[in-house]
Amino acid sequence: MFITLEGPEGSGKTSHIPYLVEFLREKGYIVFPTREPGGTSIGEQVREILSNLKNTEMIPRTETLLFQAARAQFVEQVIKPRLADGEIVISDRYADSTIAYQGYGHQQDLAQIRALIEYATGGLEPDLTIYLDVDIETGLKRKKNAEEWNRLDAYTVEFHKRVRAGYLKMAKSERWVTVDASQGWDEVQESLKEKIMKKLKGKS
Ligand code: TYD
Repeated sequence: MFITLEGPEGSGKTSHIPYLVEFLREKGYIVFPTREPGGTSIGEQVREILSNLKNTEMIPRTETLLFQAARAQFVEQVIKPRLADGEIVISDRYADSTIAYQGYGHQQDLAQIRALIEYATGGLEPDLTIYLDVDIETGLKRKKNAEEWNRLDAYTVEFHKRVRAGYLKMAKSERWVTVDASQGWDEVQESLKEKIMKKLKGKS
């Protein structure tokens, strides 16, 4: 089972994942948490190029391709072998982030972006994608308080609004479920557990 968490900046995905992993492991599942872009040594190196504040000259096409380079490696080296072993892979972001950020955010051609994703992933799609929705102002404020400010976070508020609008469109598809991430942390965590268990029990 391949589960991905998606959301705009400050939606809190990253802080929820360790608790979800622990919860599932206690239930006896074998769980492998990971994150994009990264999850492999090559991916982490690409991540450093992508987030480095020095790289202000990077154009959207370069950014899109670097994400796909990291992703291709990640799918082959990390995700596929674990899925083949029957593990639950939970990824903090995956290909839908490219559609949201590079596609909707940078307003790149969506069909071309989808073709690149198909090439990078070999067509591997998640079984379940959980979208943590939060409005941009709240999200960016949370993020600024919590972490270092990187190149990707420094895009304009308008960019992030397009990202969220893109997510809201994508979240209407069948593979997606939405969680309101403006709720308190405990409510969000409960809701995440519930959505995942529903999927695991084959009820969704
Ligand atoms: P990260 O520090 O992990 O942020 P977050 O905790 O919000 O996930 O940085 C990931 C950044 O990379 C984030 O701004 C979203 C962006 N991103 C893309 O633009 N395209 C992609 O395909 C992926 C995977 C991430």
